[in-house]
Amino acid sequence: MAFRRKKIAVIGAGQVGATCALMLAQRGLGDVVLLDTAQGMAQGKALDILQAAAVELFDSHVRGTSDYAQTAGADVVVLTAGSPRRPGLTRDDLLSINAGVVAGCCREIKKHSPEAVVIVVTNPLDAMTFVAKRELGFPRERVIGMAGVLDTARFRTFVALELAVSARDVQALVMGGHGDSMVPMPRHCFVGGVPLTELLPSDRIQALVERARRGGDEIVKLLETGSAFYAPAASIAQMVEAVLRDQRRVLPCAAWLEGEYGVRGLFVGVPCVLGGRGVEDVCEIALDEDERGFFENSVARVRLLVDDLARLGL
Ligand code: APR
Repeated sequence: MAFRRKKIAVIGAGQVGATCALMLAQRGLGDVVLLDTAQGMAQGKALDILQAAAVELFDSHVRGTSDYAQTAGADVVVLTAGSPRRPGLTRDDLLSINAGVVAGCCREIKKHSPEAVVIVVTNPLDAMTFVAKRELGFPRERVIGMAGVLDTARFRTFVALELAVSARDVQALVMGGHGDSMVPMPRHCFVGGVPLTELLPSDRIQALVERARRGGDEIVKLLETGSAFYAPAASIAQMVEAVLRDQRRVLPCAAWLEGEYGVRGLFVGVPCVLGGRGVEDVCEIALDEDERGFFENSVARVRLLVDDLARLGL
């Protein structure tokens, strides 16, 4: 019987990529190839992770490289390459720098792993996923943006802190673009099965919504020299696991919409069924008037970002 371990390529061995490689290996999801253009960066971090395996006792092999040939035939590719946000630099400012990086990486991914499910993490997320899909030319199932799992994790964390309960019992949904226009949905948030709206007054809920919207900025301001990476890496690992274990998880992802929610030809955060083929289904839920308004505003912001790509010739 021929048995082949799953192969995961992580492009970009910076804070997010390396942390993600560790988490993927710890979960035993497959062998990990970490790639970076910075000399020695991926190799050094991969070796470090491999040595952690001897103590932590995980079996995944982790290899570092600058050569895409080593990533060939990956089942899943995670794209984290690019410049992170810095104080004073908005996601939108990163557009030009990172569009070039993402396009270049995707040409290599297409060449070496033409059957992969590609999870894009580089910001500004919705625009970078757009660039990735254009360069890859893969079907929509196989190009996914990681944003909603992270945004939802942030909202769930703030709800859990407010109520002094475990975040594992807080279920939530955040839709829209990945940025301060994202749409946390209190109506769809439940704590141990009880609607959040029955547990907190609306002004408290609104404060949590606002904090979730600025969740990334809060960390950028504290760190001063980079952006969040533990929660992003954990969010990626959950998505990779859903794909490689064909779990059919219902997770919010940036998905290419083809008319769902009245949107066509854009990546926007919506609830998806994530399984072996990638985005197996886009779930359309009924939005009330307020939610629809916030969602449409967020979609308009994503569209502006994508229009900027064209205007800048990116
Ligand atoms: N190919 C491969 N790696 C690249 C390339 C490229 N063309 N260009 C840059 N890199 C690498 C850098 O050498 C660096 O090691 O990408 C890595 C990025 O790592 P960090 O600077 O530590 O950034 P990180 O915090 O990991 O964030 C990466 O994820 O969440 C997003 O906004 C974040 O867009 C950013 C990305």
